[in-house]
Amino acid sequence: MIIAVDGPAASGKGTIAKALARHFGLPHLDTGLLYRAVALNLLRWGGDPDSEFAAARAADFSQIDFDDPELRSETVGGLASRISAYPLVREALLERQRGFAAQPDGAVLDGRDIGTVVAPGADVKLFVTASPEVRARRRFEELARSGRTASYEDVLIDIQARDARDANREVAPLVQAADAILLDTSDMAIDAAVQRAVELVEAQVERSA
Ligand code: CDP
Repeated sequence: MIIAVDGPAASGKGTIAKALARHFGLPHLDTGLLYRAVALNLLRWGGDPDSEFAAARAADFSQIDFDDPELRSETVGGLASRISAYPLVREALLERQRGFAAQPDGAVLDGRDIGTVVAPGADVKLFVTASPEVRARRRFEELARSGRTASYEDVLIDIQARDARDANREVAPLVQAADAILLDTSDMAIDAAVQRAVELVEAQVERSA
């Protein structure tokens, strides 16, 4: 079973995807980390983020240290959002993601274009979203918990900028697949959102059985 979970920043898609993977005993890939790894490579090499070729070269890595704390920094996230608009970068990461999805028992992948591009034939597709204000509040609280300082207003501006970049790029823009189930988590605590996601997947599996 392949489960595709897409949605914008801080919508809860990562937590939901992880919980679904645990619930259904499937491997999980946070594809945002791949884009973040390209961004981090580029930063460390001092490559020019305005050059698609430099960014594509930074995508040529054999393995990623998923535990590197820098991967999750805001700087790397911002750069990931920029370099993910380059077709050459997306192409370089595509096979890796499809390979992960093709495991014998299936997999859960979360990102922006899993249901539309990476795994258009996925058995279940969820599109997880929430209002920009709710997402900015969540990201702000997450940052505060990890001891980083940022104002709520700055986080909201950043979220809106990322949404605009992700939705307006030419290749694989953030868009709900026609056959994806919408899960709006604006008025849900994360536990309730996870519970709802499990129910939605189970209902879909029953429908297609
Ligand atoms: O949750 P957040 O937006 O901070 O980041 P993420 O999910 O780790 O992804 C980082 C960036 O990679 C996003 O801003 C997207 O632009 C990009 N991305 C993408 O284009 N396609 C994916 N499948 C996953 C991430």
